Amino acid sequence: METQNRRAEDPNLIPVWDLPTRLFHWLLVVLVAVAFATAKAGGNAMIYHEWCGSAVLALLLFRAAWGLIGSGPSRFASFLVGPAAVGRYAMTLFHRDAGRHLSHNPLGGWSVAAMLLALFLQAGTGLFANDDIATTGPLYAWVGKPLSDRLTMVHLINQNAIVALAALHIAAVLFHLVYKRENLITPMITGLKAWRGDAPAIAFRKPLWLAALTAAVSAGAVYVLVG
Ligand code: HEM
Ligand code: HEM
Repeated sequence: METQNRRAEDPNLIPVWDLPTRLFHWLLVVLVAVAFATAKAGGNAMIYHEWCGSAVLALLLFRAAWGLIGSGPSRFASFLVGPAAVGRYAMTLFHRDAGRHLSHNPLGGWSVAAMLLALFLQAGTGLFANDDIATTGPLYAWVGKPLSDRLTMVHLINQNAIVALAALHIAAVLFHLVYKRENLITPMITGLKAWRGDAPAIAFRKPLWLAALTAAVSAGAVYVLVG
């Protein structure tokens, strides 16, 4: 009897991050890392830099669309909340027993938006960039050298914003793991999150074919643009 009662209070594993969002995340991590490595290597590696950067752009287009039509927790409307909710959450940041969020928490949601925008700016300016040697982005000819130089400057400066945001992001995930004893990493791998009580209304899923179609359209759009 006692065991049964304890079981009733045990958290259930409920679906949070769908396969498309998880694939998006881990592909993004790999491609951004390779984009940095190839940019720093320079020379012949720049062609791979452009491939990786273009693939990041396709991922970002996919994520922007999936944020509107995807599964509940992946939608922007589920995690981009107003300043009052952000403020309330910030006040409880160091409370170990503060309420849990199925999707990104209010601060995390805006940091995700900042990362997506910074990466979008990086990939977007990269298309028009040049390195004064042999490499030009695929849309260089649209803007000419003077404007390309300015966009390259943005590309070079914005790399620091991406490093800072990614470092803050990883620090926040570790803060949750170590201080708040909340493991956010496993759900980003398995898609399942421990949850007490009934699943919230946003726990709904969208079919994989819709994600595949959205990914194909995003990749196709980038191919047409840079191909
Ligand atoms: C280049 C480095 C990284 C970038 C640019 C990045 C970017 C992102 C983005 C954009 C999201 C939002 C996912 C979505 O809703 O689509 C996210 C979530 C997440 N990332 Fe990363 N990430 C990076 C590295 C990492 C690493 C190394 C880890 C593991 C330690 C990690 C763990 C997570 C987790 C656990 C979440 C979900 C957070 C939550 O539950 O609110 N990320 N990341
Ligand atoms: C989000 C994806 C991207 C990231 C993280 C990224 C990162 C970087 C970084 C860190 C540098 C500077 C290397 C240095 O310090 O010297 C750089 C340079 C460059 N990137 Fe990207 N980039 C991305 C996307 C792209 C894209 C899509 C293109 C073009 C298709 C591109 C074209 C270039 C060019 C031509 C340079 C050379 C600029 C110069 O050295 O003056 N990048 N990128």
